[in-house]
Amino acid sequence: MCGIVGYIGDRLAVPNALNCLKALEYRGYDSAGVAYADGTELKICKMVGKLENLTSHLKNKIIPSSCAIGHTRWATHGEPNKQNAHPHADYYKMLAVVHNGIIENYLELKNELEKKGYKFYSATDTEVFANLLSFYLIEQNPLLKGYYAVRNTMHNTLHSTYKIDEKCIIKALHSVVLKCKGSFAVAVLMRGYDDVIFFAKNKSPLIIGKGENENFIASDTPALIGCCKKFYSIKDGEIGYITKDRIAVFDENLKVLKLNFKTVNIRPEQVILGNYSHFMEKEIEQGADSVTETINRIEQMKILERISPKIFDNFDLHITACGTALHAGLIAKCVIEDKLKIPVDLDYASEFRYKKPLISSKSICLFISQSGETADTLSCVELSNSVGATTIAFTNVAGSRMESLVDYIIPTSAGPEIAVASTKAYMAQLAAIYQFIEYLAKIKGITIEFSSDSVKNAVLKNKYINYYKELEDVVQEIKDEESVYFIGRGIDYLLSLEGALKLKEVSYIHCEAMPAGELKHGSLALVRKDCFVIAILTQKELYDKTLNNIYELNSRGAKVILFSPFKELRNIVYKQILIPETEPVLSPFVAMKPLQCLAYATAIARGNDPDKPRNLAKSVTVE
Ligand code: M6R
Repeated sequence: MCGIVGYIGDRLAVPNALNCLKALEYRGYDSAGVAYADGTELKICKMVGKLENLTSHLKNKIIPSSCAIGHTRWATHGEPNKQNAHPHADYYKMLAVVHNGIIENYLELKNELEKKGYKFYSATDTEVFANLLSFYLIEQNPLLKGYYAVRNTMHNTLHSTYKIDEKCIIKALHSVVLKCKGSFAVAVLMRGYDDVIFFAKNKSPLIIGKGENENFIASDTPALIGCCKKFYSIKDGEIGYITKDRIAVFDENLKVLKLNFKTVNIRPEQVILGNYSHFMEKEIEQGADSVTETINRIEQMKILERISPKIFDNFDLHITACGTALHAGLIAKCVIEDKLKIPVDLDYASEFRYKKPLISSKSICLFISQSGETADTLSCVELSNSVGATTIAFTNVAGSRMESLVDYIIPTSAGPEIAVASTKAYMAQLAAIYQFIEYLAKIKGITIEFSSDSVKNAVLKNKYINYYKELEDVVQEIKDEESVYFIGRGIDYLLSLEGALKLKEVSYIHCEAMPAGELKHGSLALVRKDCFVIAILTQKELYDKTLNNIYELNSRGAKVILFSPFKELRNIVYKQILIPETEPVLSPFVAMKPLQCLAYATAIARGNDPDKPRNLAKSVTVE
């Protein structure tokens, strides 16, 4: 959560930093800010709300600065107001810091600094980081306090008179890093030292982008697509600095590192809207491609063959994830237990860690995460590693922290997912999961009724259906509802969980999914005349049972909107959204798209921004 950037080079720094920040806004949009070197001064400009507020505020200003850092915030410490917005300056106004992460011991550090005379203006942990850095710098040269009291600070005086150079600043930064507990990716701009950006990283993501006469840092690669082609993923504990033509990274012992820059295959068109109104709309459309790309890449790169079959001799299987990724995991559990008869233990990552899970060195732990950055899931990976379990991650973001922690990576190839609501990544996760199941079936000598090809064919069945048109009336009717219920049985219940999450997340309508058979055990009491219930029915085996539940709802006056391939049900329900017929086990590949379209269209009808739902952020890097 929170996105940070830094630009230094021959071009105007502020517009470049703002441009990169735009691609990071999915990480938080409570406030945005930049700090830049303005000749002799360090200027900070911040605005509450989305980045566009800051961009329009700075629109007509030409800022001749070649060095800037920027931030887009998802509030953790302190409310989302201007005071708490980043960048944060230290008490002596000698530096500015942008930060992504949480300094867990910030209150303790704040107390210590207050005793030393530091005063604070915000409720943030970041301001503590800024002041701690200022403290360690002053410790090296107490005269600095006086120096910064003077307005016109020049780099050369700082260097020659006060003997402050990159080495001193790195040393001070190193001391701060040793003191701070928690997660952080920080970028620092020093007043009077305006041709360098300093950085440090622990647990929160941070990359360096190398350009021609310019260099960048950012929370992730998509922010720098179109800016540079070579990237270095900064590792935990590393600190360093960039100038326009130099990059220096130090390890935990302050040893200079030799850097291995990589080229990343993200095309600029993958991170722009193109002809779409929102990323969510674009990404729903890309769902089918992300399935095909995922399958092709796993096959071409022989990803599954890298996993030693021996681990499947005597094992127990666990799946851990959050949100939409967990819903993909639920489908995995259902299909593995049904088709392979292998029991699967599945948990929310936020629960797994604290339930004292029964895992050991013979456990295989699967983690599903689009970002590979979700704090809850990452801590479960660490826990599983600590008992010697085999860890396998299904992730979408290459070079994520999760990838560096697990034994095996099964990449999903959805491409950058920018909308906060996960759509195409869910489809790609399912594709990778089904391939994993196929591989496991092969190892176990079990015949199953699906293959990569049948998965690809299933998802293509939706290609020419305009669900938005089909859903027009439904959207108009539900858009003003307070609550919408979702029901289904078996896989259909698992799909209704994801359908409900999608709709509530972007429309802010209260949505609740339940197994259809559970209605009578309490929830039916909520059903009133004219209330909307979305029913999903794709499983022939469960047809009669779900139909009975629909009758029960009808007789209580509910309006049932049915997502199903069974045409004959049309006259039984209030409205049917016809979806293509497919093998029951493949129904997630056809039934999810219309549910995603329903969520998107309802958000639009309610005037919400579906790409940036309130209170949420794409990567949940705090527990
Ligand atoms: O990056 P991850 O897949 O680990 O994220 C997990 C959840 O935070 C995520 O799926 C969230 O539920 C989405 N916003 C749902 O659309």
